[in-house]
Amino acid sequence: MKIGYVQTSPIFGEITQNFEQVEDLLGNTKGDLIILPELFATGYTFISKEEAESMAETTEGKTANFLIGLAEKTGAVIVGGFIEKDGNHIFNSSMIVSDNEVLGTYRKLHLYYKEKLWFSPGNKPLKIYEAKKTKVGIMICFDWFFPEMFRSLALLGAEIVAHPANLVLPYCQKAMETRCLINRVFAVTSNRIGNEVRGDDNFTFTGGSQITSYNGEVLSSAPKDKPHIDFVEIDVNQARDKNLNKYNNVIRDRRTEFYSLE
Ligand code: ACM
Repeated sequence: MKIGYVQTSPIFGEITQNFEQVEDLLGNTKGDLIILPELFATGYTFISKEEAESMAETTEGKTANFLIGLAEKTGAVIVGGFIEKDGNHIFNSSMIVSDNEVLGTYRKLHLYYKEKLWFSPGNKPLKIYEAKKTKVGIMICFDWFFPEMFRSLALLGAEIVAHPANLVLPYCQKAMETRCLINRVFAVTSNRIGNEVRGDDNFTFTGGSQITSYNGEVLSSAPKDKPHIDFVEIDVNQARDKNLNKYNNVIRDRRTEFYSLE
């Protein structure tokens, strides 16, 4: 199975240009699973809730149409971030699409910094999606900070975690090695690069998109400051075997009766 990421440099508010950037980077690349960054079409650093609302869409909007077209062209299932509108609420979401439909959305559970001013926190149960005969779970950027998140996706059966991101801290990539190792799950972190100075905020996004193997090995690592795409071939069966050795199984060996998760 061929999985990969597109690391872009979104221009704030320039949705059409941001779509073109993804298309240009992909060219005629084919794959099975492609992950795009968090909020890849809009940019990240909003200055008001109204501004974020003005770029919000449903799963019938232009971002969904763009991703469906891209899925058709690449032959891949695609996961990418967008602002999801649902009634009076907007969410920092990612949608997963195949060549003719939106399979579903994930609404970010752990909002970072001023995202709490613009977005409602995720309100849907976690779900695993079937993509090319593999099981894909989704989390977004800062969700990595909460180990329960990746573990929950693993317990629900995720074999690959799709991780659209707009990282501004330098810690995630290292942490993903451990997340993957201790759950025996693959992950694709698709980050962005560039700088956004808006309102009081000045964010430099840290790039370094990464494909991490079920055993914690880094299979691909993007530059910190350049657009980049990469794909690797994986054997997803490796994520189905939770035995670390003859005696240890990373899921069955848990002593849940002694853990307090409150
Ligand atoms: C982040 O969660 N976008 C930092």
